[in-house]
Amino acid sequence: MQLFLDTTDIGLLKELTATGLVDGVTTNPTLIAKSGRPMLEVIAEICELVEGPVSAEVAATEVEGMLAEGAKLAAIAPNVVVKLPLTRNGLIATSEFAVQGIQTNVTLCFTAAQALLAAKAGASYISPFIGRLDDYGAEGMGLIQEIRAIYDNYDFDTEILAASIRTPAHVTAAALAGADCATIPPTTFADLFKHPLTEKGLEQFLSDWAKTGQSIL
Ligand code: E4P
Repeated sequence: MQLFLDTTDIGLLKELTATGLVDGVTTNPTLIAKSGRPMLEVIAEICELVEGPVSAEVAATEVEGMLAEGAKLAAIAPNVVVKLPLTRNGLIATSEFAVQGIQTNVTLCFTAAQALLAAKAGASYISPFIGRLDDYGAEGMGLIQEIRAIYDNYDFDTEILAASIRTPAHVTAAALAGADCATIPPTTFADLFKHPLTEKGLEQFLSDWAKTGQSIL
């Protein structure tokens, strides 16, 4: 399973990519606004730090604008993935980018039927929003299971990118449900390393080791 960071925070990105465990990055207009920086500059900087896919989202809602913005974003670096909303226009633009060989991430997916359409349009990635579905009172993880079954039934190549992840438990559940990737906020990514029993156990081992008076080196 590929793990992406959902962020525009360059500091946190550098810190977490140093683990060697970050396979890609996703961004969205909210995260760009949070960065307070020009989008093209932020995306270029992220692409220099990360070899894997970096999703950059269009702001246009009409097909022509989506195609123009997507082409500009894709020209930033070869690893840019053009992110498009799951609307009728978004899927028309997705089909066109597929013909052009430009990678796409179709975002704001909330139903399996939407995911089916995105795959038929030739999306490289589909982003079902788990956390937002949970907030809405629905079962977010059930959506991943449904999309997995549909994509497997028809051998679609579109990768399932579990998004709107809020907790380490979401990551585990997405992995169990067969998501190809998950995009994770930096704080949740950092939490993936942790367990109180790991910390307690290590403390005990180090204290017992100190009593031996030994040194390995
Ligand atoms: C994914 O591509 C989105 O940027 C992100 O996962 C949205 O997460 P949120 O629902 O926490 O804003």
